[in-house]
Amino acid sequence: MAFPPQFLDEIRTRLSVSTVVGRRVKLIRRGREFVGLSPFTNEKTPSFTVNDDKGFYHCFSSGEHGDIFGFVMKTQNLSFPEAVERLAEEAGLEMPRQSPQEASDAAQGARGREAVDAACTLYEQTLRAPEGRQALDYLKGRGLTDKTIKRFRLGYAPGGNVVKTKFLARGVTEDILLETRLVSPGKDGRESFDFFRDRVMFPIFDLRGRPVAFGGRIIGQGEPKYLNSPDTPLFHKGQILYGMALARTATAEKHEIIVAEGYMDVIALAQAGFAHAVAPLGTAMTESQIELLWRMAAEPTLCFDGDKAGRAAALRAAERALPLLKPGFSLRFALLPAGKDPDDICRREGPEAMAQVLADAAPLSDVLWRQVLSEQRWDTPERRAGLEKAVLAKAGLIADETVQAQYRRLFRDRLFELFRPAGPSPGSPRGAQARGPGAKRSGRSAAGGDYRRPPAPLPPAPARRIARDTTAGQRTRERILLATLLNHPGLRDHVEERLGALSLADSRLDSLRQTALMHIAQNPELDFEALRADLSNLGFTDELGNLLNSDTYVHAGFARPAAPMDEATVGWDHTFTLCQRADLEADLKRAETELAENPSEHTFAAYQALRNQVRPAGDDDHDDSGFDTTRHQKR
Ligand code: UTP
Ligand code: MN
Repeated sequence: MAFPPQFLDEIRTRLSVSTVVGRRVKLIRRGREFVGLSPFTNEKTPSFTVNDDKGFYHCFSSGEHGDIFGFVMKTQNLSFPEAVERLAEEAGLEMPRQSPQEASDAAQGARGREAVDAACTLYEQTLRAPEGRQALDYLKGRGLTDKTIKRFRLGYAPGGNVVKTKFLARGVTEDILLETRLVSPGKDGRESFDFFRDRVMFPIFDLRGRPVAFGGRIIGQGEPKYLNSPDTPLFHKGQILYGMALARTATAEKHEIIVAEGYMDVIALAQAGFAHAVAPLGTAMTESQIELLWRMAAEPTLCFDGDKAGRAAALRAAERALPLLKPGFSLRFALLPAGKDPDDICRREGPEAMAQVLADAAPLSDVLWRQVLSEQRWDTPERRAGLEKAVLAKAGLIADETVQAQYRRLFRDRLFELFRPAGPSPGSPRGAQARGPGAKRSGRSAAGGDYRRPPAPLPPAPARRIARDTTAGQRTRERILLATLLNHPGLRDHVEERLGALSLADSRLDSLRQTALMHIAQNPELDFEALRADLSNLGFTDELGNLLNSDTYVHAGFARPAAPMDEATVGWDHTFTLCQRADLEADLKRAETELAENPSEHTFAAYQALRNQVRPAGDDDHDDSGFDTTRHQKR
């Protein structure tokens, strides 16, 4: 319905933007504005501003911009009228009256919802009745607890026309039953009948957690395995994800979301502690579903069966996402062992195994790269040209210019690596470079042909940092690097380039790393106490408490605030060197395994390149055993 402008203005006057936004986003006053971390991206440095005078918020990282209504629509996935309704109530205003047509449509919608909700309840009750025995046994046999069954409101649709008969008797019109597809129209003059009969029922909820449709599974074997409600005025398959409403809280906390293939996967994941899981409804992912996912998390992880069909589905999703990619937003792909779905993994191998699968998810760019490589050879100039063309054509599908440019660059770098002869060329600058702190990560792309560059400055952030060594020792080193900087903000100039390129295994600490670097850059005069207070205000209180304590200092005295600057500097450099070496060695080990499992030109080249970087034990003048409580000597 159209709302009178004065009515909307009245709401805006009563509710300031900072009040509405402040409930979701921790805001800090900065002059006439407020700043905070964007709720639209999972950014680590605040780029989200609110201006009460202008009545707008603006998010510099996503470009989102709007007033209180826009904000509520975006963050709570509401339509405009729903947002108005919600805010009007908060502002203590009555909703203006609707036109008769609008009122009647709304009433029809409400009756439809009521009917679907009542059916949902009926199915739930039947599951607990004697007729539901077999269905309940089936669900229990699949490892579901009562709590899970209740949470997802699972049920049983009995045989016969129970819904039709009961609901008509209660005064629900046949119109409503047909419109919601609880009942199917009979063909050729025959009677209408219950759509779901003798099936285990999985209600599908809209974003507000209201049931709007169902999936019904056959008990045991048979066709079709799942029967799904067709689209209705309440339900648009392509715009909903199964489990969305229930996943929201967990997603908001973790800034992560898992996309599985089916109903049972979502449910098993939730029961295993992965409440942030959803699934498309038996179809390939649609654009709306990808956009919906991005409103909840910047890099949703798609979890597909590792068999041929699963890989094809992953690829389809990847290709559909390409034109939609935007800076900061992507998809990740967790490939499961062939023939297994998340339900199998969670149940047979446990949550740890599942967590590992998720942690090993590959970025979208890797999935595309591997795909092209698996289809093309590159042993002649013509084939190389063909491969190059195919890879760059993939990048060409990306609409966003910045993202496309990054993909081209990544792919060109990889092609260069791939086409480069495997062994070290004599007199290659790599040998000369691989000495001294900061040198060892430089190997990639730095040698050979016309690609030579002067040895310094070193390019930051090699791509192979994707999978990092996350042993306890490495985590400790990372903690020390960060703690030392936080306690000695003056170190920034010295460490910025290296720490900036390092992504920490612990994602919360990694946010802290990014925010701290940015914050110190913007406020170079801060001492460590002021820095700590600011970071705490930015939401990092727990991480700081976790990091800046004797658990960290016991390994490294130079990290303490009281340690002199020169000790902190030397200690930091030393730790960084150890950290790099551990990374390289872990990479090498991985490359070795990969080469053994899958010998190809590519895996061999990757292995060779790494082996050339990890020098033989001869040049080893470091104590690699970790840390002790004594301070490091200057070298
Ligand atoms: P799967 O065949 O992988 O089934 O279909 P599943 O999820 O592992 O189911 P269980 O574990 O055997 O119970 C994946 C999804 O595809 C849709 C459903 O949404 C299902 O969850 N599907 C599958 C259908 O819509 N109809 C079907 O007949 C089969
Ligand atoms: Mn399954």
